[in-house]
Amino acid sequence: MSGPQTDAHEHLEAELAWWTASNDLFEAAAVAAQNLRAGGPAIDPRELRNALGRFATGVCVVTTRAASGRTAGLTVNSFSAVSLDPPLVAWCLGRKAPSIQVFSEAEHFAVHVMAHDQHELAMHFARPADDKFAAVSDAFEPGIDNVPVLRDALARFECRKASMIDGGDHVIFLGRVERFVYADRPPLLFHAGRFLSRA
Ligand SMILES: Cc1cc2nc3c(=O)[nH]c(=O)nc-3n(C[C@H](O)[C@H](O)[C@H](O)COP(=O)(O)O)c2cc1C
Repeated sequence: MSGPQTDAHEHLEAELAWWTASNDLFEAAAVAAQNLRAGGPAIDPRELRNALGRFATGVCVVTTRAASGRTAGLTVNSFSAVSLDPPLVAWCLGRKAPSIQVFSEAEHFAVHVMAHDQHELAMHFARPADDKFAAVSDAFEPGIDNVPVLRDALARFECRKASMIDGGDHVIFLGRVERFVYADRPPLLFHAGRFLSRA
């Protein structure tokens, strides 16, 4: 990644991808009105998102395969380490995301932490598509339960789904790590709606 134009482009792409699966402006207004009716403060979801975006994160691609053979994968920055014993990790999926059906059915998923030079792959998995794997099949191999796993992620956690927890307009997926690998390369970072490929 180089230059302010590329940065601006990736910023826009990231914004678009997010809003495709997230609240539209009408829903944002409805959420604010609902907060007011409930006697709470009028929280503007867009502003809340801007504020939350000040928290710098890594970038992950989460993949899965259901028993039906259907695959799904998406880019997330909501990944979090939860517990070492038992080994648990979590991430959040928007309830309206097209991939939610496949992730709900599947027993396993794999979380891949992206390296600094993997922003194109991260953007690929942030755009809705019928088969996101077709164009990048060379980068994947079968993992536990035949989940497609990336060969060269910065870190990879293959998980058995432990639970799905209500998280408002998102569902929190808790996974028990069954296998993991990692490498020593710089990470891809995300802050205020932008990828930062150099820490
Ligand atoms: C940097 C970045 C982080 C994202 N984090 C999340 C996330 O944590 N949860 C989520 O549901 N969508 C997140 N998205 C949006 C999804 O990647 C995007 O909506 C994707 O198309 C969803 O996959 P699907 O259309 O196959 O369901 C993020 C997008 C970007 C670019």
